[in-house]
Amino acid sequence: MKKKIMPLLLAALIGTAFLTSCGDGAEPKVEESVSKTEETAAPDTVSETETETEASVTETEPEIEIVKPTVKKEVVFGEDFETGTSGFGPRGGETVKIIDEGYNSSKCLIVTDRTATWNGASVDITDCIKASTKYEVRAMMKYEGGPATKKVYVSLQQNTSSYITCGQLELKRGEWNEVSGVLDIPANFDSECLYFESEYKDPATEDDLVDLYIDDVKVYYVEVENADVKLPSLYEKHEDYFKIGLGTGARELRDPTYYSIILNQFNSITMGNEMKPDSVLDYVKCSNDPEKYNLEPAIKTDNLEVGLKFAKKNGITVRLHVLVWHQQTPEWFFKENYSRDANAAYVSKEVMTQRLENYIKAVLTYCNENYPGIVYAVDVVNEAINIGEGNSDGIRTKDNHWYDVIGPDYVELAFTFARKYAAEDMKLFYNDYNCHSADRRLAMYNLVKGLKEKGLIDGMGFQSHYGLASPSTIEIQETLLKFAELDLELQVTELDINTADNSDEGFEKLAVRYKKLINLYRSLVDKGLANITSITIWGLTDENSWLNDTEKKYPALFDEYLMPKEAYWGFYQHSSIANY
Ligand code: GLA
Repeated sequence: MKKKIMPLLLAALIGTAFLTSCGDGAEPKVEESVSKTEETAAPDTVSETETETEASVTETEPEIEIVKPTVKKEVVFGEDFETGTSGFGPRGGETVKIIDEGYNSSKCLIVTDRTATWNGASVDITDCIKASTKYEVRAMMKYEGGPATKKVYVSLQQNTSSYITCGQLELKRGEWNEVSGVLDIPANFDSECLYFESEYKDPATEDDLVDLYIDDVKVYYVEVENADVKLPSLYEKHEDYFKIGLGTGARELRDPTYYSIILNQFNSITMGNEMKPDSVLDYVKCSNDPEKYNLEPAIKTDNLEVGLKFAKKNGITVRLHVLVWHQQTPEWFFKENYSRDANAAYVSKEVMTQRLENYIKAVLTYCNENYPGIVYAVDVVNEAINIGEGNSDGIRTKDNHWYDVIGPDYVELAFTFARKYAAEDMKLFYNDYNCHSADRRLAMYNLVKGLKEKGLIDGMGFQSHYGLASPSTIEIQETLLKFAELDLELQVTELDINTADNSDEGFEKLAVRYKKLINLYRSLVDKGLANITSITIWGLTDENSWLNDTEKKYPALFDEYLMPKEAYWGFYQHSSIANY
């Protein structure tokens, strides 16, 4: 008998955050999105159906009938600049006017004579919107000349003094692109002005002040029908196999619209940014009293604790990411007196080793003492392998202050200290990307093997930022099996599928990809071939994915309205999604 899914309150319309990296506030790391997803596309040499162990073993829940939400949009404000401007004007001394070219049309708006990055075009939309309501805004933008790319924002000026970035996009020179965002209108407001500007820079150079072209601005009221359909739970579905985690951030964990979904679907979280050194190290304390903190760097726990508190309160667990990484770790951490001066000297290896030990001690002790039992896995070191840079073991030498100051031993030292201070139930992981690529895989394998022999590591983390077809399921399987030889826990730590195809077929392909992956992971566990203990999806919605850069991407299980995509049902192993 078919079971219709029960109603629920997850109705809410639209998400709010537009994060370039998963989680709040971190610098986008655009270069990685390319290398991680496009590198090493080894061809399938064996048919996937031959080696794919067994989707049949992990068949689906045929009794669940999928009720698809439908989205209705109503334009509450629109301007294509063909016959007027609806009152669009400058924000400062810049010029805003109509010119005879446009996006698939004959006219558009242009902003010239900009002297600050906040100079742009603005329009008052107060009369078109209602309080306590979310709207979607979409507009076409471009610029000519200047740098190869330029980040632009669509923002809201609430009343006279509150400025909120609602959406952003990295435009490519000379190309019209769509910037979109969510306008979250509060209960009380006097006025709301929508405006377009470019990334904040002060002082701004000529490159920052390019003319901005704007066309086809639309603000929609959005209604989702069947938004209240209750979904099954991903973590309950897979709980006999592994934890199902989410890469998230403080903003989502504070917003009931998001966290109700998170709690329904996931039993593990990773803070995308808040647990990284640039978020945890306390610059103010360290630099105010460098003598006192020289060997024992001060940490601040306000960001870190959002996830830990959330997990404790809701009975879920945390993957702590990450203690040691060459990125999102401030350079001043490696300098004498914690100086930000570019010419300041780096500390000695001895001093840095003590800073490393005491940083790890401080973070892990904080977790042990305040949140015992919450952190089940710690990414001790992230991305230490980068082949072709000189080190014979493959240890990353470029742009890696850990390597510069301590040398290749930094990896083993980090694990030694982590082992010393971690509670017994905190499993220690090495985490990396493109683990399937042969030379990288070998270097990682050797690194992890050495650590395992010394009793310093418990698991291998596979970031798994994949494309739709690459790497193949076979390559992924081979890689998991290779590391399984080392008798380690295996965790998929940052799974997402980089695709820009949002057609029905594209979404179907994405769903099949997720289904093939979860089929593979479950079958390896079923057969006792790999001890996979956790699968983390990197980002809840398409809107918030770190993969959005010059092009909008659709990697996630949920869409911008927080509605499940086909991909969700693929990951759920629903019978309506093909196995191959
Ligand atoms: C890497 C890091 C993550 C995150 C992603 C991009 O994979 O391990 O912490 O920064 O890049 O979101």
